[in-house]
Amino acid sequence: MVYNLAVMVSGGGTNLQALIDASAAGGIRSKICLVISNKEDAYALERARSAGIPAQYIHHTNQEELGRTLSAHNIDLIMLAGYLQKIPAEIIEKYRGRILNIHPSLLPKYGGKGFYGMNVHRAVLNAGDAVSGATIFYVDENYDTGRILIQQQTDISGLKTAEDIAAAVLETEHKIIVESIRRLEYEKKSAD
Ligand code: GRF
Repeated sequence: MVYNLAVMVSGGGTNLQALIDASAAGGIRSKICLVISNKEDAYALERARSAGIPAQYIHHTNQEELGRTLSAHNIDLIMLAGYLQKIPAEIIEKYRGRILNIHPSLLPKYGGKGFYGMNVHRAVLNAGDAVSGATIFYVDENYDTGRILIQQQTDISGLKTAEDIAAAVLETEHKIIVESIRRLEYEKKSAD
């Protein structure tokens, strides 16, 4: 199945860029129809505009506009890619089973409220873990507890700083964010 994909972002958008590049190279067949950010100045919005993708700032509490915009673009799959706000319950209900999120750890480890961005990698460093990784899961009403779709480990055994761990895990994120869409496209294709 090919999806009309919306990507929701809050920051630099390197995960979004991985999807844009995969789409341009034919690595995914789904179309990135819309990028939404809760941050008006998110560089991810620039990345979308440079790729000719409709890009819109929507305040994270404005669920009416979010719902309207998703419907207007016939969105049937949402990827949260560095989006740092909770999705309104009404939107989760409407798109249940079709909202994915990427998290920079091997969930359920280092997940839940407060575990985002560098907080995750600092916790991994302090624990002395030799392995970290990234997870893509289905969004539900809680933080980072939904069914896992894909997870990949990252070897961090030689790394000494949280920044180095973040950079290594980010490479894994860029791989699995593309792989997750490909897997859904294939699964639905075989089910068609
Ligand atoms: C990534 O580690 C992502 O998992 C986290 O935000 C970081 C930056 O993502 N949520 P991006 O460069 O904005 O895609």
